[in-house]
Amino acid sequence: MAKVKFYTGESFPLEMHKVRIIQKLNLVPVEERGKAITAAGNNTFLLNNRDVFMDMLTDSGVNAMSDRQVASMMYADDSYAGSETFTRLEKSVKNFFGCKYFLPAHQGRACENVLSKVFVKKGYVVPTNYHFTTAKALITVNGGIVEELIIKEGLKIKSDLPFKGNIDIGLLNEVIKKYGPDKVAYVRMEAGTNLVGGQPFSLENFAEASKLCRASNIPLVLDASLLADNLYFNKKREAACKDMTLHQIVLKFAELSDIIYFSARKLGFGRGGGICTNNHEHFLKMRELIPLYEGFLTYGGMSVREMEAIAVGLEETLDEDMISQGPIFIDYMVKELDKRGIPVITPPGGLGCHVDAMSFLEHIPQSQYPAGALGSAYYIASGIRGMERGTLSEQRDENGEEHYAHMELLRLALPRRVFTLSQVNYAIDRLVWLYENRKLVEGLKFYEEPRILRFFYGRLEPISDWQSKLIAKFRQDFGDSL
Ligand code: F0G
Repeated sequence: MAKVKFYTGESFPLEMHKVRIIQKLNLVPVEERGKAITAAGNNTFLLNNRDVFMDMLTDSGVNAMSDRQVASMMYADDSYAGSETFTRLEKSVKNFFGCKYFLPAHQGRACENVLSKVFVKKGYVVPTNYHFTTAKALITVNGGIVEELIIKEGLKIKSDLPFKGNIDIGLLNEVIKKYGPDKVAYVRMEAGTNLVGGQPFSLENFAEASKLCRASNIPLVLDASLLADNLYFNKKREAACKDMTLHQIVLKFAELSDIIYFSARKLGFGRGGGICTNNHEHFLKMRELIPLYEGFLTYGGMSVREMEAIAVGLEETLDEDMISQGPIFIDYMVKELDKRGIPVITPPGGLGCHVDAMSFLEHIPQSQYPAGALGSAYYIASGIRGMERGTLSEQRDENGEEHYAHMELLRLALPRRVFTLSQVNYAIDRLVWLYENRKLVEGLKFYEEPRILRFFYGRLEPISDWQSKLIAKFRQDFGDSL
């Protein structure tokens, strides 16, 4: 995909696959969209898919599978213990990461649960390049503290730094000294920093973090859920990786890690997860919890069909055509929006296109959730659902005070190989319209606010009747168009 040049000098993403199974989509009229988002409490997680045109909520468990993956699901060996399917998955994971031990789990957060229960105690710290919602909630629920040590540039919206997901090694050193190595449960490096724009870290940065951890006897944990995108950027943007194969880069990351976990809803294009290590002691401690929380050691809560698909999906992750599709589409979308003055995170990262709601809706204070308001307004304008990645996705502190996010983002995920370029162009068009009408959009307030992970199922209402004004303006500008 990345290797084709065009005679006219134009440049646009070219798919290296063809569509063989399709699902019909539904685009309901704008008035219906207004009703649907009200019924969903302005929370895009609570929309019904039948009211959604393009589902850009997430890439999790919704990437398109290859024909080989679907075919593999047909010869799954369905048994509780000792299934041949598990043997195939284990072989594939061990080959991919070059690791000795593998523990299956039903998804990424299940791995985080096991890790937190084994390593985190009250007052212990987990330094990380950047937190992820479930990882942080599971660390804090066990009495741990999360220290975010991403490099300064990582929190800037506009930048041309290739590895904005790097951890600040100086700060990591300070935090280890401040708490003392015994109180550092582990250092967590998240590939493709989910909450701050899908930005990668470099192999060089990871190696420095590893050196520091090993000198202090602290386990280095790699969250490899978004490793496929990270790998693509290592190969493209890091001189030292240019001549390495994708597999050589993975093996290098693995060699520098003590524990690796992943959501196979992302890495491996299936639905599941797992933990890998070469450390026998760590393996034994974590293994105890798998039958307790997940399922027997040969399925860990996953369906055998999914396990077969993940085994093949991991193999295919070493194919550059396959892992470049997401980043190249994202690159196109980000650049087209940037050209039109719409504030988006640059450089383009993985996972999706991230719109900066703080500047898109600069008239909305953080206390009224600009990224949530943008998600709601964008659904009304387009029938597309994105995901709030800002203050709504944070948790109040123990005194009930709001914890304002570093960034207020609307994430428009591009699940891999799912959307066509014309659909992406539609998404761009509606965002351009919304930007021109941004002054019509106002804030949101909670009327049902869960204590933990409130973004999943909390409900909000608009602070005024701004949504009916937005719908009226849509009709005025678009006539009878959907
Ligand atoms: N780590 C990262 C970096 C993730 O992006 C996710 C999930 C998880 C861990 C947890 O994995 O969902 O399988 O339990 N991210 C999804 C998203 C939910 O939409 O970004 P999980």
